[in-house]
Amino acid sequence: MKTVFSGIQPTGKVHLGNLLGAINNWVSLSNEESKNYFCVVDLHSLTTHPDPSKMQENIQETIKVLVSSGINQKNSKIYIQSNVPEHVQLSWILSNFCQIGELQRMTQFKEKSDQLGSHAGILTYPILMAADILIHKANEVPVGDDQTQHLELTRNIVERFNNAYTEYFPLPEKTSGKAGARLMSLRHPDNKMSKSNDDLNGTIYFDDSKDEIIKKFKSSVTDSENEIKFDIENKKGISNLIDIYSTLHDMSHEDVEIKFKNSSYGEFKIEVGETVVSYLEPLREKYESLSDGDISSLIRDHLDDVKDSAKKTMDEVSAIVGV
Ligand code: AMP
Ligand code: TRP
Repeated sequence: MKTVFSGIQPTGKVHLGNLLGAINNWVSLSNEESKNYFCVVDLHSLTTHPDPSKMQENIQETIKVLVSSGINQKNSKIYIQSNVPEHVQLSWILSNFCQIGELQRMTQFKEKSDQLGSHAGILTYPILMAADILIHKANEVPVGDDQTQHLELTRNIVERFNNAYTEYFPLPEKTSGKAGARLMSLRHPDNKMSKSNDDLNGTIYFDDSKDEIIKKFKSSVTDSENEIKFDIENKKGISNLIDIYSTLHDMSHEDVEIKFKNSSYGEFKIEVGETVVSYLEPLREKYESLSDGDISSLIRDHLDDVKDSAKKTMDEVSAIVGV
């Protein structure tokens, strides 16, 4: 049976990019025959020096969204990274199989060290991510396109470790949805949609009201033509809207183009906005129905299994490396 692992940082409100690029895939995989671990990676988030007084609230909110999105909990464990210290222990062992040059070449390292200064946490971030994946010996990792490089690095680490000792870790594969793997900001379609976009109107947050969502889509940046055509090079804004619409209606880009052949940009923007509103509405209702107590007991219920799995791997790895 395959094992799936993925993670999300509790660094603010969950947005449409997280949902379409990653979490929706987690939901699909959770309905397959597999063992799944979905982790709120609070230790990773420390690289951006978040406000400690907001941390617990952000973790709770993130877990509530995961539950509301419909992850099947029969075969899925949801947990908080810092509750399982084996992630960090394994990370240290793996760091001996990773080159400093490789870490310096990571796009996210370059971007983040420009913003935050290059401390060692941003540099070694991908090794902790490799440890997250390998602590349960996962073979499948559903993530958005921005994580491709990190997954490649994890695979390199696995190959080196296995060559040095014994064929122990599986080679994990990245999985992405067919569309929506890289949603762009509605205001700056050259940049990906993110939790911390400078222009908040570029990001659709999980808890935006209907009016806010429609307003953000109406004011989304497109181009001066009036042709609804998927062209990622020359028409980034409209392509992003087509991507969102096609993902949520399970249609091809071509079918969306045909459907809106005679529509104006203004009409199309409202259609996409309304699609997103209808998609988020049931998720938000479920979210509102969950109490903090529900989340605390979920975490308690899931943690024993997670700890057993992590401890087993760590015991085996310790024996392999001789410590
Ligand atoms: P983060 O919010 O950076 O912790 O990301 C959590 C998950 O959402 C990861 O799998 C990311 O690849 C995915 N993700 C984040 N932003 C986007 C985006 N704009 N488009 C698609 N996927 C995204
Ligand atoms: N680096 C991922 C992000 O920024 C989050 C993450 C941490 C992750 N550990 C992971 C994703 C392990 C997949 C698997 O989005």
